[in-house]
Amino acid sequence: MALPADPALAFMGSRTSEHAAMKPLNLIVSCAENRVMGRDGRLPWSIPEDQRFLKEKTRGQVIVMGRICFETWPSAATDGRRVIVLTSRSFLGKPGVQVARSLPEALALAEEIPGELFILGGERIFAEAIALPQAARIYLTLVHAEVPGDRHFPEWKDRFARQTERRDSSGGGWTYSFLTLER
Ligand SMILES: NC(=O)c1ccc[n+]([C@@H]2O[C@H](COP(=O)([O-])OP(=O)(O)OC[C@H]3O[C@@H](n4cnc5c(N)ncnc54)[C@H](OP(=O)(O)O)[C@@H]3O)[C@@H](O)[C@H]2O)c1
Repeated sequence: MALPADPALAFMGSRTSEHAAMKPLNLIVSCAENRVMGRDGRLPWSIPEDQRFLKEKTRGQVIVMGRICFETWPSAATDGRRVIVLTSRSFLGKPGVQVARSLPEALALAEEIPGELFILGGERIFAEAIALPQAARIYLTLVHAEVPGDRHFPEWKDRFARQTERRDSSGGGWTYSFLTLER
């Protein structure tokens, strides 16, 4: 039998036959027209409606994020969220927070936890996740501006060309659209 070509599937090893049952991945992000999503360890904008959207969408679900993102949202494990933090550092566990050393390890942990699975970034995690076959949906808050920054969301337009929802809004001095994108 041929080995799977995808390293993420190879990680699953003997679980490959269960792959079809793996949870779909939802990526959730806000980014500018030039794909900037972060600057100096923070968001380049303050958009209260978008923060509410993120919190509501992920309430009671399983979220995967990098160590820096977790440092900016240490209370992520409230409202029933189960948090998986990617880090190579030793970590003092908190209730509702687990640690993984790679994205495949995080996804394997997430399989054991009830709830939808959301990937919250940052940059490297999004780049890995968007390339996986189980990446099903992007909840993209597209901020209608070009802004300077040092963290970018990956190119998505070719891979997630189908827009299934769109709601335009504005606030905090920005105009933006809540988009749901699928393959
Ligand atoms: N606009 C948005 O929706 C959005 C979303 C996410 C992030 N951001 C922005 O992006 C910036 C934070 O993201 P970031 O990319 O700098 O950092 P990050 O992904 O939150 O954290 C980076 C750290 O996470 C761990 N890590 C990341 N990817 C990993 C992987 N594939 N495997 C193992 N460990 C991994 C490493 O931790 P250790 O160093 O501990 O080993 C790494 O140093 C901020 O500016 C934030 O505001 C914006």
